Amino acid sequence: MPEPDKLETGIDGMDDLLNGGIPQNHSVFLAGPAGSGKTTFCLEYLYRGAQQGQNGLYISFEETKDQIVGDLPFNWDLERKMQDGTINVVKYDPYQYENVIDLVRSSVKENNAKRVVVDSLTALSLYVDNTKDVRKLILDMNETLRKLNCTTIYTGEIQAGHPDEISRYGVEEFIADGVITLLLSQDGAELTNRILIRKMRGTDHDKKIHPFKFENSGLKVYAKEEAFESSSSSSSHTDEPF
Ligand SMILES: Nc1ncnc2c1ncn2[C@@H]1O[C@H](COP(=O)(O)OP(=O)(O)O)[C@@H](O)[C@H]1O
Ligand SMILES: [Mg+2]
Repeated sequence: MPEPDKLETGIDGMDDLLNGGIPQNHSVFLAGPAGSGKTTFCLEYLYRGAQQGQNGLYISFEETKDQIVGDLPFNWDLERKMQDGTINVVKYDPYQYENVIDLVRSSVKENNAKRVVVDSLTALSLYVDNTKDVRKLILDMNETLRKLNCTTIYTGEIQAGHPDEISRYGVEEFIADGVITLLLSQDGAELTNRILIRKMRGTDHDKKIHPFKFENSGLKVYAKEEAFESSSSSSSHTDEPF
């Protein structure tokens, strides 16, 4: 079967693992503990798209624009991409979560966004009273973004040391065409970043754990190096599932 058109993530090494990129119009759930690089990964996905002239929209339910782009360790001209409107970062406080779908739809249309980031489903779900409504909201949002022809990355926070526990409501990985996990492990005195593509419909993909690093130019995934899930994963354990 021929593979669908893909959007390159543009992240060094990542598209090798994805056999070219994320299939167009698909959704990916990016799960990882706090500080594992989810926001950075998503920003680079938008930035590399913007370099190819594709508009990107970053929807945040938690952090402000300054918190998101403030202390990126890269030599990018992200500011210019935001000034010329190629990348838009918006923050919603979804107290009235019934309006979220309309907000998402109008922002995508207004910005003519092709690449979308929703950060995070964890934060969004905190505003919603019960599991049934969370599921409906996520399903509706996914359907809306798909109809708008967006290729979307949703983030979700999981507890460090529990990479198998991908999501809280069981819907995130179910609706997503792809699931990528970011791992943060402790090697001696150092925290190391690792990445694993667990699932990616519509394309052949790598299924091993690989290290990644923050370079000056952006993230770098070591596609030829394999890593192992460390048993001494960094622990920020709480009683909550993530
Ligand atoms: N040059 C760097 N090398 C290694 N780690 C870095 C570097 N710059 C930032 N980080 C780490 O990346 C983290 C930020 O990741 P972020 O994308 O915000 O994660 P998340 O969204 O998953 O919480 C910071 O906690 C910081 O420790
Ligand atoms: Mg983040």
